[in-house]
Amino acid sequence: MKKVSDILPYFLNELLDFYDENELKSIMYISIDFHLGLTKSGTILQSERILKDEEILVFINIVDRLQKMEPIQYIISETKFYGLSFHTMKGILVPRPETEELVDWIIKDNKESEKKYLDIGTGSGCIIISLAKNLKGMFDAIDISKKSIRISEENSIKNKVNINLKQKDILHSELKGEWDIIVSNPPYVLRSEKKVMNKNVLNWEPETALFVEDTDPLLFYEEISKKALTVLSKNGYLYFEINENFGNETIKLLEEIGFVNIELKKDINGKDRMIKAMCK
Ligand SMILES: C[S@@+](CC[C@H](N)C(=O)[O-])C[C@H]1O[C@@H](n2cnc3c(N)ncnc32)[C@H](O)[C@@H]1O
Repeated sequence: MKKVSDILPYFLNELLDFYDENELKSIMYISIDFHLGLTKSGTILQSERILKDEEILVFINIVDRLQKMEPIQYIISETKFYGLSFHTMKGILVPRPETEELVDWIIKDNKESEKKYLDIGTGSGCIIISLAKNLKGMFDAIDISKKSIRISEENSIKNKVNINLKQKDILHSELKGEWDIIVSNPPYVLRSEKKVMNKNVLNWEPETALFVEDTDPLLFYEEISKKALTVLSKNGYLYFEINENFGNETIKLLEEIGFVNIELKKDINGKDRMIKAMCK
């Protein structure tokens, strides 16, 4: 590996047994963007640029870690989400593109007025920080994980927004306050779905952020909805990211709890992925 144009063949040669070609190319462009500051077209335009020794070492190290199925977002300690940059590390869920769609929905719905927002299970802080960057109001977030609160704090400073963060277990504590909008992307992957998941998620991403027992798939949705009903303002909204296989069940649950005007929305891949419901 001597110049920029050698990086692609090097990645393909070393990693095609581990990743499919399209995924690998996108990982490579993320790495090049992060370490060389080149976009996809910049990579082509500067294909003859000679790599410095330290740059070659960086790419060798990335490939080594990718062979161990470590997510690229942990290797470079960064994820781009809704046009912002978030520090990510082991123990914190990597923000996903589906969640950007949920954020986009909330932003489009709430552009006009100033509101109070609460994010439950904030992880890297990607949802609440993106809302704070694009909307007017007050922004609160909770998570059971101390590490998540620390990283969200760091991400809020990095993105120059003010968020009130608190370590809290939503399943075993009361919610006190009043909010106009509550949002959550809680753990929703069934334990039985583990066997079809990629190693780079299973071996690296936090269990507490991902899984629920098959016997109680809507545990978080039920607890959060019941608590939300007591703290949401009149005509306030609850937004959830959901497991694609539980759209109708989640609607039924929200109706039973007392929410109205419930709307289910598909993600870009045509899967039931998010829900909003009004508190009357
Ligand atoms: C699916 S992740 C979502 C993270 C982030 N909001 C995102 O969209 O990338 C779920 C988050 O819920 C948190 N969590 C799990 N159990 C919780 C609980 N009982 N109370 C509060 N947060 C919890 C996890 O630590 C994790 O950060």
